[in-house]
Amino acid sequence: MMTWLLGIWISWLILLVASAQKPFDVVPASQKLNVAASQSFNQRSGLKTECLGSFFKLSVDKSLAFGSRLEFDAINGSQIEALTPRFADKCGFSVASDPWGNTNVYASLLNCFAGNMDDAVFDIDMRVRVLGAKGEQDVFEVEKTCNYDQWAPREILCNRNYMEVSVNRLPGDITALHRPPKLGRSKGSDDQLTSTVSEAITSRFNIWRIMFFTPQQKAMLLVDALKAGYSITTTKSRLVLRSGYDMPETYVETVNGVPMKIISATTYFKKQWSVTMLDTVAACPTGGLVYTDEMITWNFPRINPLMDSSDTKILGMFMGIDGKQIDTAYMAARGYSLTMEDALIVMKLPMGGPDGYYKSHAVNNQYHISYNIEVMLDLLWSDGGTDTTKYKVIFPIKTPLVSGLPQLVDNTDSQLKMFDVLLGPFLYDVEFVNITFSTGVLTVAEATARGVIIEEHRFPNGSKTIRLQVPFSDLFVIKSQVDLIMTVYTLPLVFGFMILPENTPFSYSTSVEVTLHDVVLPTISGKCDTEKFYIQILFGSVGKSFSVLLGKQDLTPERKVEYEVKENGTHMSLAVPFLASDVAFELMYPSSLKARLDVLVQEPANKWNLGDFSLSCNFPMTMTECYSNGSMSALAVKVESVTQLSPRQLTLRDPSCKPKFSNDRFAYFTFNANNCGTSRTFMMG
Ligand SMILES: *[C@@H]1O[C@H](CO)[C@@H](O)[C@H](O)[C@H]1NC(C)=O
Ligand SMILES: *[C@@H]1O[C@H](CO)[C@@H](O)[C@H](O)[C@H]1NC(C)=O
Ligand SMILES: *[C@@H]1O[C@H](CO)[C@@H](O)[C@H](O)[C@H]1NC(C)=O
Ligand SMILES: *[C@@H]1O[C@H](CO)[C@@H](O)[C@H](O)[C@H]1NC(C)=O
Ligand SMILES: *[C@@H]1O[C@H](CO)[C@@H](O)[C@H](O)[C@H]1NC(C)=O
Repeated sequence: MMTWLLGIWISWLILLVASAQKPFDVVPASQKLNVAASQSFNQRSGLKTECLGSFFKLSVDKSLAFGSRLEFDAINGSQIEALTPRFADKCGFSVASDPWGNTNVYASLLNCFAGNMDDAVFDIDMRVRVLGAKGEQDVFEVEKTCNYDQWAPREILCNRNYMEVSVNRLPGDITALHRPPKLGRSKGSDDQLTSTVSEAITSRFNIWRIMFFTPQQKAMLLVDALKAGYSITTTKSRLVLRSGYDMPETYVETVNGVPMKIISATTYFKKQWSVTMLDTVAACPTGGLVYTDEMITWNFPRINPLMDSSDTKILGMFMGIDGKQIDTAYMAARGYSLTMEDALIVMKLPMGGPDGYYKSHAVNNQYHISYNIEVMLDLLWSDGGTDTTKYKVIFPIKTPLVSGLPQLVDNTDSQLKMFDVLLGPFLYDVEFVNITFSTGVLTVAEATARGVIIEEHRFPNGSKTIRLQVPFSDLFVIKSQVDLIMTVYTLPLVFGFMILPENTPFSYSTSVEVTLHDVVLPTISGKCDTEKFYIQILFGSVGKSFSVLLGKQDLTPERKVEYEVKENGTHMSLAVPFLASDVAFELMYPSSLKARLDVLVQEPANKWNLGDFSLSCNFPMTMTECYSNGSMSALAVKVESVTQLSPRQLTLRDPSCKPKFSNDRFAYFTFNANNCGTSRTFMMG
């Protein structure tokens, strides 16, 4: 319900993480103090105190807390109490910090630990503990005296984490619970303390009981209300009630569309036979925000539940930033406005102004940003008569997260054979930590060492983009040939980021690709001698990843041996005997054979032809021969153009003279010159 408050508590223990880009001042060790030596505050660099009307502001610069955790203690003369969230709600403190670690603490002047003299002079005493990684701590003590005596009859303070209302008209005889200020911090304040304590005990019994309205009535004894986490106390002239927003005796009311948290109580004081009642009510807005891309509008109900009568007159209306009122010139310069419109008081702020800051977030691994600014509204009104109310709301605004979808710009120039991508913008609080390539994840440092060019470009406003360059030839780039002449180079990428200071990881996945007409096809050449074809294949850009067909046959491993295939990184050579089965015979001459070898180079997966080559040569070959013993031999060869012929069925003119040897390409005859009824004439089908 109160999500806007959540941010405050999340940042309670402020873990400040080192970020190399940010300039910072290190407080020299000699300036640091340990607990024993802790000194009064004296405008130490990095610490600043201010009295801002009814509250006190302590600012701790990021330089002081750099890389450390900050904790705060409240101190009253006798006691030191760590500012835990619960304690802060109850006692009137609030702590918030920005992403750089600048932290500010607001303390109500009526906080449980302040020294109070006559409701006019207030001593605030706090300790800042800077906790290093190794558990060492530096302690600074901060002391400030604030003067404030313009208390209105009723003052309401809506701080980030608590609501506080104080009213006067305290019956004169009810004594103050609060300790007096330390009057110059004199020694021997022990007497003083003792008297204060006994006084406190006496007056505490004056409060008889508290009646809360939720809006049902719920009565509580003072002791139970304190135990429950409310603060109810008296000062010299005032009754103070304080409550966290999430306490059970608070309730929500929507006023003119604006949700308000309300705490309402009547305190009964008992003195002898009489009972006095005092009403205290605080109503604090928890919403009313409207956003556009350009403007933040905060609506506050003009007539709110704190206003009693219809003749309420608004006497003053001011805007503030970070707890401080700003003047109209400043408002005009920043484009702020504060106006009354019908039933609403309307504050307008341009989105993204310099008084606030942007912050990165990761939601479901998606990059988002929010704009954050802390505004203040001060109102002064009178309810008829002379009773006035001073009303102050300190209101941290965190816009809804908007998707800050980073843009990927692909500037790859294929001429340069280099992927070149730009990813961004990201806010100042995003750190690029690693990158996942097809081969695995590398840190930015590893990738840089590995030769990937990574640059971070910063804009004047602190935003940045990442530039990444990877050559096409890099192992990370996946190459695939899409057709005969085109190669696709693909670079899948996952950018890993971290949001500081919370160390929230998120990533951005993408893939860039480029298609290039850069395939160099294999080239085939050849020559013959009297026995063999010699073929050489010069690989193209696709390397050895092709298959070779000779004739119509694949070059099997056995044939590779037979053809003496040799390869190195760029070439393959083979020597094919002209009588090999992959050779086609074209023509037969009496003493030679014209033979042809067809070579085809194919891309194996898609059977794309990468190159073909054909070589015909005449090889000397004796087709008939006569021997001295009168016998003759003849060789018949199947030439390509004669498709029907089967050499096995060849006969000489005498059909009984079958070949002595035959296969599907040759028939070999031997015969006596006078036999077989013929000489040197062959039937070829
Ligand atoms: C200091 O604060 C604590 C807690 O509120 C209170 O119990 C104690 O009485 C205070 N001491 C003085 C001197 O005010
Ligand atoms: C910062 O400046 C860059 C470049 O001008 C712009 O793209 C980016 O949106 C700005 N960031 C913010 C948060 O204004
Ligand atoms: C890479 O970065 C992402 C996002 O910050 C983170 O989640 C992841 O663990 C990192 N991977 C490695 C191996 O460091
Ligand atoms: C590969 O072999 C071819 C022909 O045999 C030769 O010209 C070339 O120089 C060789 N290349 C290498 C790198 O050995
Ligand atoms: C004649 O001589 C050749 C070659 O020496 C031989 O192959 C063939 O068998 C001989 N023929 C006869 C009938 O002896």
